[in-house]
This record gives sequence, C-alpha cells and structure tokens, in this order.
Amino acid sequence: MTRIAIIGAGHVGVVYAAGLAELGHTVRVVDIDRRRIANLQRGKLWFYETGLPELLGRGLKRGRIEFTLSYATALKGAHFVFVCVPTPTGSQGSLDDSYLRAAYDLIRDEASTPLPIIVNKSTVPVGTGDTLARIFDDQMRVVSNPEFLAEGRAVEDFFHPARILLGSHDRGAAEAVARLYAPLHARVVYTDPISAELSKLAANAFLAMKVSFANALSAIGDAIGANGEGVTQALSADPRIGAGHLRAGLGFGGSCLPKDLAAVEHLARTHGAASELFRAVAAVNRGQRTRIVDVLISRLGSLSDRRIAILGASYKANTDDLRDSPSLMLAEELAELNASVVVHDPVAAPQLRARRSGLSVSRSAISAARAADALIIATEWPEFGALDLGALKRTMRGSLLIDARGILDSDEVRRHGFDLFNFGGGRLT
Ligand code: NAD
Ligand code: UGA
Repeated sequence: MTRIAIIGAGHVGVVYAAGLAELGHTVRVVDIDRRRIANLQRGKLWFYETGLPELLGRGLKRGRIEFTLSYATALKGAHFVFVCVPTPTGSQGSLDDSYLRAAYDLIRDEASTPLPIIVNKSTVPVGTGDTLARIFDDQMRVVSNPEFLAEGRAVEDFFHPARILLGSHDRGAAEAVARLYAPLHARVVYTDPISAELSKLAANAFLAMKVSFANALSAIGDAIGANGEGVTQALSADPRIGAGHLRAGLGFGGSCLPKDLAAVEHLARTHGAASELFRAVAAVNRGQRTRIVDVLISRLGSLSDRRIAILGASYKANTDDLRDSPSLMLAEELAELNASVVVHDPVAAPQLRARRSGLSVSRSAISAARAADALIIATEWPEFGALDLGALKRTMRGSLLIDARGILDSDEVRRHGFDLFNFGGGRLT
C-alpha cells in the first residue's frame, strides 16, 4: 500500500487526502493550524466544498486518512510527500514562497529513509523545482504536479482531470507519481519542472484573459445595443475559442486567478518580456467594479447614506471562499463612498462575520433588500436565480437592480418594475 504525506490541510490538501484515499492509498495530512486539524480529525471540514464531506468521511471510516500536527508522524514511512501550502501574492506580484520554504525545511528535517518523492501541488514560483534539489542536497527526488481543480467542483475535477501535468528531471519519479493516479485513466503530460510551473501560471492567466475579454466585449455590446448572450454563444461554438470563462460579469476573483496573473506579469516584467497584456487583463477586471459604481452614481447621485444590498459575498458560487472576492471589494468600495452596504450570502455569512469588516451581514436576500435603494447580484448562487422578484421590489425603496452575474431573465426583471443593468445585455431601461 502506498503511503502519502500531505502538507497543508486546505482546499487542495483535503481534496487530495480524500481523493487519494478513495484510490486506495493511505494518507497522513499535517497542518500547522490546530483548530483545522482538530475539526478534520472529527471529519469536520473548515470550508465548503460539494461532495467533499462524504468522500472524506469514507476515507476516515476506512482508516485510510489521518490528520496530525506532527511532521514526524505524517512523514514516517511516506513514499510521497504532496506539498499543498499557500503561495499568496508577495512583493510586486511575485508569488510568496515563505510557506513553501517553511514546509521544505520541516520535510528535510523529518523525512525518513528510504526518502520520499516530493510532489509540488502548490502553485510555486517558476524555478522552485530546480532550486529544491539544493534545499534537499540532491537527496530527494522532486516532481512538479500543478493542480488545476476549481473550487465548488473540486471533487469532480479530482476524479476527472483534463490532464495530469508532471514536470521532473527524473522520469522514473514522474512515472511513479503517474501510477498513483492510474485508476483515473487521465491524460498525462510529462515535461521539465520549469515548463510545468509556467504552464500552471499560464493556464490561470489565460482563463483570466478570457474573462476580461468577455468583460471588455460586453462594454462594447452595451454601448451599441448588441445581445451579449448571443455574442457569447457565437464565440463559444468555435472550439478554437472554447466555451469556458466567457461569462461577462463582476470579474474574476478568488485565491488563484488574480495572483497567478500577477505572477505571470511579474515574471514577464523581470525577464524583459512583454508584460502589458497581463496588466491590461487586470485593469479590465478592476474596471468592472468601476462600471457598477458609475451606474449606481448615475442613477442614485451621491451614494452617501444610500442603502445598497449585495447578494453574494464569495468570489463565485458553490464556495464560501472570500479570498479576493470581487463582491467584497465592491462592497468595500461602496462603503468608502459612505453607502450603507448590506451583504447576504447563503453559505459564506459566518466567514464574512468573522472578518469583522464592518459590513452589515443579512440572513436572507429579502431582509438585505429591505429599504434598499439598489440591489446587486454579485455571486451567481443558484438560489439568486429563483428570487421572488415581486417581494424584493415591494420591500426595496428604490428600483435599481444590477445583475452583475447575468443570472436573471431580463424581461421578467423589467416586468416587475425594476431598472435593470447587467453586463452585455442591459442598458438601463
Ligand atoms: P489553503 O489556504 O486552503 O490551505 C493551505 C493550508 O496549508 C492551510 O490550512 C495552512 O494552515 C496550511 N499551512 C501553511 N503553512 C504550512 C506549513 N508550513 N506546514 C503545514 N501546513 C501549512 O490553500 P489552497 O487553496 O489549498 O492552496 C494551496 C496551493 O494550491 C496554493 O499554491 C494554490 O495556489 C494552489 N491551488 C489552489 C487551488 C484552489 O482551488 N484553492 C487550485 C489549484 C492550485
Ligand atoms: C481557477 C481555475 O479554474 C482552476 O483550474 C485552478 O486550478 C484554480 O483557479 C487555482 O489555481 O486555484 P477557481 O478560482 O476556483 O479556479 O474558479 P474559476 O471557476 O476559474 O473562477 C474564477 C473567477 O472567475 C471567479 O470569480 C468567477 O466568478 C470568474 N469567472 C469565471 C467569470 O467571471 N466568468 C466566467 O466565465 C468564469
């Protein structure tokens, strides 16, 4: 039986623990966060992810998963060490490698012989795989195995990956990692570490570019009266363009697209390569919030003491992750303009309250909308597509509805007497 140590019990680490256990492997997960480990030992997830509680529960019940605060326990007898620690944005857009370094130092100190293969699942700064050889005194074999799962569909993505990318100078080590995933029958791409690391950043930068393209296009469509949905359908039908990430809206957020885009921009800039494309993608993304603020000001005048309800706090639906959430950034920008902002999220409310950001948090969409001058749908939670529009309209003071994720039927919204704005489909009526 293969024994795997996982470093970091987060969105990637726990999905991998549960997924690898399901594939028949034995997994020990170490984290430095006492509370998270204590909860996970009882099978309690600290974040929201569809299907993961059940999968984790199965692995725990079968005795294939153990959570610990001890590196020595996690690494004892491990054949592989999966590194799943955070790599947030560091200085000038680079990836901060401080969590990685701390983890590598502990791995070096605690690994037992025969030495395990180190598998980098974290999105690491380009070049990390090569510098690792030095950190490990050329003793441990290293494979870059970047992760492509998306939150909200992480379990599905684990079992049905579009590809498994393995970058290593040691083909034997890469093939050993590939064998762990054999039951998935996935396409495996072998390359060197630097290429694997760059490919990961490139994938997220490309997805970000598609979203910004859709958003930039929606501004043109709005100006000339084109039907945004029709344009998107026409583009999506071409396999060279691809259907995903073309939904215009409030812009991309989350812990990865913005930071990986910044990392590519940083990489290009510091190596004298063209970097303006990446800056433009980020600028269009920021501009989506400005478009909303402009609509609000054009309709309501000064936002001072205007009550604005925001539905959705997480950076997208089906997650309670608030990292780099466009919705929260918008809420904070509006609060700075002295608007009175009330936020409702069906799942992320506890996380929102815990941030103590000063924003009011409401238990329901209807209570958030009470006496509001404007209502903004900022996250595409499915329940927001089935709102009782009549009740919302009656409880609001104003009639401006900004469907910033394009989930409502425009005709129906207007039938209820709302002034509707949405990206790529709607000038103000
Ligand atoms: P996360 O913040 O959800 O989890 C990381 C965990 O690592 C935390 O629980 C933290 O306490 C722990 N940790 C930090 N330092 C540690 C250390 N020295 N030893 C042990 N544990 C430590 O992060 P995440 O979202 O899982 O992301 C992890 C990495 O995977 C990042 O590089 C990210 O870019 C990448 N990634 C994330 C996703 C995603 O959907 N979240 C997808 C693909 C790639
Ligand atoms: C993204 C990638 O999709 C994953 O492949 C990658 O592994 C992950 O980043 C990562 O590296 O962490 P994720 O951030 O979970 O996954 O979510 P996406 O579904 O890509 O959405 C990112 C953002 O773009 C969200 O804010 C979403 O609302 C926005 N988006 C997405 C749009 O505005 N329009 C779209 O058409 C699609």
